[in-house]
Amino acid sequence: MKHKTIIEPFKIKSVEPIKMTTEEERMIYLKAAHYNPFLLESKHVIIDFLTDSGTSAMSAEQWAGIMRGDESYAGSVSWKNMETEVTSLTGMPFILPTHQGRAAERIIYSHLGGKEKTFISNTHFDTTRANIEFSGAEAIDIVIDEGKDTSLIHPFKGNMNLEKLSQIIKDKGAENIGAVILTVTNNSGGGQPVSMENAIAISEICKANKVLLLLDCCRIAENSYFIKMREKAYANKSSREIAQAMFALADGAVMSAKKDALVNMGGFLALRDKALADACTNLLIITEGFTTYGGLSGRDMEALAIGLQEIFDPHYLEYRIKSTTYLGEHLHKLGIPVMLPIGGHAVYVDAKKLYPHIPVDQYPGQALVCELYLKAGIRTVEIGSVMFGKYDDDHDLIPANMELVRLAIPRRVYTQSHIEYVIETFAEILQDAPKIKGYKITQEPQYLRHFTAHFEKL
Ligand code: F0G
Repeated sequence: MKHKTIIEPFKIKSVEPIKMTTEEERMIYLKAAHYNPFLLESKHVIIDFLTDSGTSAMSAEQWAGIMRGDESYAGSVSWKNMETEVTSLTGMPFILPTHQGRAAERIIYSHLGGKEKTFISNTHFDTTRANIEFSGAEAIDIVIDEGKDTSLIHPFKGNMNLEKLSQIIKDKGAENIGAVILTVTNNSGGGQPVSMENAIAISEICKANKVLLLLDCCRIAENSYFIKMREKAYANKSSREIAQAMFALADGAVMSAKKDALVNMGGFLALRDKALADACTNLLIITEGFTTYGGLSGRDMEALAIGLQEIFDPHYLEYRIKSTTYLGEHLHKLGIPVMLPIGGHAVYVDAKKLYPHIPVDQYPGQALVCELYLKAGIRTVEIGSVMFGKYDDDHDLIPANMELVRLAIPRRVYTQSHIEYVIETFAEILQDAPKIKGYKITQEPQYLRHFTAHFEKL
C-alpha cells in the first residue's frame, strides 16, 4: 500500500523536556531581551525555529562516533574519516577543517578579498557578506527577479541572474572579481533551490573569464533533492550523485556542517588549487588549529563524517522537504503570506504583506518575530531590514529587498504535533495583524546588528 502520510523516519531514544511558559511570563522575558529573540534564554523558548544551524538531533550512530572520536593533535583517525568523506563527496583534493562555516569564510575571503575586489552571489549570507566587507571588498547579490517576488511560483528561485553576472564581470574586470559564490540553497533568499542548469551556466561564465567559483554548500543535500524532483534530467540520479555533479562545477566550497552535515559544530573549506589551499592553510594554522583538526575536536569530525552520509538517505530527505512544505502550505491555506514555493530548511513569512500598515523603517519582520514569541513561545528570526538594512548619509534606512521572517526547522528535532501547534498560532497572528505596531532600534553594533541590537515598541 502507498501511504499518504510521510512519517518521521526515526524513533526517539532520548528526549529533551520543553518548559512551558505563559504569555505573561514571555512578556517579561521579551522585554528583558530588548525585543530581540537572540537575547532570550533558550529555556524560555517553547519551539525554537531561530535556526536550523547546529540544532540537529544526532543519530545513535553519530553518538557512537562521538565515543570513538580520536583526539590526537596530529593525524587523528577521526580527521582521516572526515577528510575521506568530504573528498569523496566534493571531489576536491584539499580539505581544511574549521570550527564552523564563518571560520572557513574568514580564511578564504580575507585571502581573496581586499579593497577594489568584488564578490558576486545569488545572495550572500549575512556572515559571508560581513567577512567580505570586513576585508574591504564589496558583495553584490544577483538572484533572479523571480526570486524577489514571494508569491511567484518558480521551481528554482535561488538561481543567479546570468546576464547580470556577465555584465558585472565585464564592468569590474575579471581580475577584480574575488569570487562568484553560489549559495545552495539560497538561505537569505527564502531557502530556495538553485538548478543544475543554472549552476552549469554560471560555471561556464566563470571558466570563460577565469573567475573563481565557490559553492556555499551548507544545504547542498536539500538543494540536490529539489533538483531530483524538479529537473527532469536528474530524476534518476541519487541526491548524492547530484551533489557530486554540482561540486564538479566549482573550484572550491565552503561548508557550515551545522546544517546538512547534521552536527552541532563543524565546517570546512574544500579547494582544488594547491597554491590557494597552501595560502589558506597558513591562515588556518594561525587562527583555527593544525591541519588535521582545524577548530574541531576529534569527536566532532567523527560525527561530521557520519552525518554527511546520513543526510543523503532518500527517506530522510523526502521527510525533511515534505514536512517543511507541510507547515508552509498550511500557513498559506490560512492566508498567511509565505514565500512560495516552500523552501528546504525553513518557511519564510512575508511580513511586509502581513503587516502592510507598518513602514519598513519600523521593521514589520521584527514585529512578527516578537508576536510569535509572545503568543506561543515560538522563536524565529527576521531576515529583512534589521538583518540587511543600511543607512544613507542622512541616517535614513536603505531597506532590504524583502521583509521576511524565517521559521527554520531544526533537523530531526520536532514532530508533527509541534508543527500543528505552530499552525494554530498563526491563525491568531492573522486575526490580530491589523493591531500590531512596529519597532525602533535603540542600540546597534557596526556589523551583524541583528544579533545584538536593542529595540523598543512604537
Ligand atoms: N552560509 C550560509 C548559507 C549559512 O546559512 C550560514 C549560517 C553560514 C554560511 C555560516 O555558517 O553559522 O557555521 O558560521 N547560517 C545560520 C542560519 C547561522 O541560521 O542560517 P556558520
